[in-house]
Amino acid sequence: MGNSDVVAEQAEHKNIPQHVAIIMDGNGRWAQLQGKGRVAGHKAGVDSVRAAVASARKLNVKALTLFAFSSENWKRPETEVSVLMDLFMFVLTKEVKRLHKNNIRFQVVGDLSRFSEKLQKNIAKSEQLTAENTGLVLSVAANYGGRWDIAQAAKKLATEVSQGTMTLDDITEDSLHQETCLVNLPELDLLIRTGGDYRISNFLLWQAAYAELYFTDTLWPDFDETQFQKAIDSFEQRERRFGKTGEQARNETIS
Ligand code: IPE
Ligand code: IPE
Ligand code: MG
Repeated sequence: MGNSDVVAEQAEHKNIPQHVAIIMDGNGRWAQLQGKGRVAGHKAGVDSVRAAVASARKLNVKALTLFAFSSENWKRPETEVSVLMDLFMFVLTKEVKRLHKNNIRFQVVGDLSRFSEKLQKNIAKSEQLTAENTGLVLSVAANYGGRWDIAQAAKKLATEVSQGTMTLDDITEDSLHQETCLVNLPELDLLIRTGGDYRISNFLLWQAAYAELYFTDTLWPDFDETQFQKAIDSFEQRERRFGKTGEQARNETIS
């Protein structure tokens, strides 16, 4: 895409969400429909991750957060869990240079302590390599749970109070927010779930408080740039009122 195309595309979409998160669901069903094992769906899903990153960059989205593995996904058969871990390791090793080349800052959010030492090291290395990048922030949620996120934030504040560096009155929505994951990114604007289910599955509970929700039946491996664009188009039609009246909200958008 030439520079003028990028400018034209941005001008067309004034109301682009700054922060998009995706629950990438439906890999297993996609594979089953093809008469393949579930693992084939996870592998095909990696191409959709690349497409989502490309779409986000093109549209000038600032932050893209992808749910790759939930704290509940350990309940899956051991073989599937281990394939997912291998795939994660493989993709990290293979893709991180390209992310870096594209000025993408990469981070993993979640309780990393349960991952193998090798994977943890690989994650730290990838984060360090891309830490100074100023383009898209790509966050991958792995062994992440929204309840875990809130609980770990509460624990940090409780530690401060018990050490006397904070008082009970310092515990506010703002100070708790400061300890949750993704705190330095723009507020979550749009939460997409593929795969046809209408639930959050313990993803960004705190951060999704005022996010627009977009559900699609498309299975994750079929979610391409056109599908991403459709989600953005839907977002652009929404009126975000944040508790105010429609009239107030519209006046604010104009001024
Ligand atoms: C999402 O696809 C990927 C992960 C949870 C790792 P699924 O594996 O949940 O696919 P379905 O929902 O069984 O089709
Ligand atoms: C949510 O998908 C987690 C990820 C996409 C990583 P699941 O397939 O695990 O969700 P449930 O179990 O159907 O709610
Ligand atoms: Mg699923």
